[in-house]
Amino acid sequence: MLVVIKKDYQEVSREAARIVAGTVRAKPDIVLGLATGSTPLGLYKELVALYQTGSLDFSRATSFNLDEYLGLAHSHPQSFHHFMHHNFLSQINLPADRAHIPDGTITGKYDEYCAGYEQAIKSAGGIELQILGIGRNGHIGFNEPTSSLASRTRLKALSRETAEDNRHFFSSASEMPQCAITMGIGTILDSRRVLLLASGRSKAAAVAKAIEGPITSSVSASALQMHPDVTFIIDEEAAYSLTQRDYYRHVVEMTKIFTPERLD
Ligand code: F6R
Repeated sequence: MLVVIKKDYQEVSREAARIVAGTVRAKPDIVLGLATGSTPLGLYKELVALYQTGSLDFSRATSFNLDEYLGLAHSHPQSFHHFMHHNFLSQINLPADRAHIPDGTITGKYDEYCAGYEQAIKSAGGIELQILGIGRNGHIGFNEPTSSLASRTRLKALSRETAEDNRHFFSSASEMPQCAITMGIGTILDSRRVLLLASGRSKAAAVAKAIEGPITSSVSASALQMHPDVTFIIDEEAAYSLTQRDYYRHVVEMTKIFTPERLD
């Protein structure tokens, strides 16, 4: 596990964009795992800017989003479909038929639908690089506390904390969905590389538990300790509660010298 501590949100976004862009250039037919939320917005802005200057091409890439609210039309301004199209997909040349986002409009046969999503990831060759944010309760995707660490894509009831964090985006509390379709923790752990981004003091406790706490289903992100290739890119505020910040900085310096490709 690499923990890269940057000064602020802008630096986090730039560092993540450097890694994503480098990986897409090295493997143009890459399968990306994408996240929504406020955290990756800066990353998407950077990637769009690289695409617009002609230095990045997504024409052979495929993407799979982590999650989607249940019950929102794709055109709903708070749906993750809308978020992804508005903030990223409509501004790059990733073919629309290769951009996958769970369908929150389905009604029934949820397990069947979710098994199909898993199969589509598998058929595409598996996710090469998964982008993650982290919830204040340590969730990744919408894998709320006590999600099985082996879980796969499924319907998941949202926790009270997640509802509270996102309610203000909706015009009324009753409009806030109570469930989502989300990749599971097992699905995320199958991706070949994971980049988790976090910014701000409100994420410090979750980040510390994920990196330094015990592996527990109470903190879904702690499962990443079992993944062989995870990079946390976090700002100083999000790193605030880590007890070993100096060591993580030392590890990054040593990595630059001995295995710099791990930072590409
Ligand atoms: C989004 C997702 C969530 C968010 C998390 C943090 O697709 O899966 O796990 O990454 O809730 O959200 P922000 O970035 O808005 O703080």
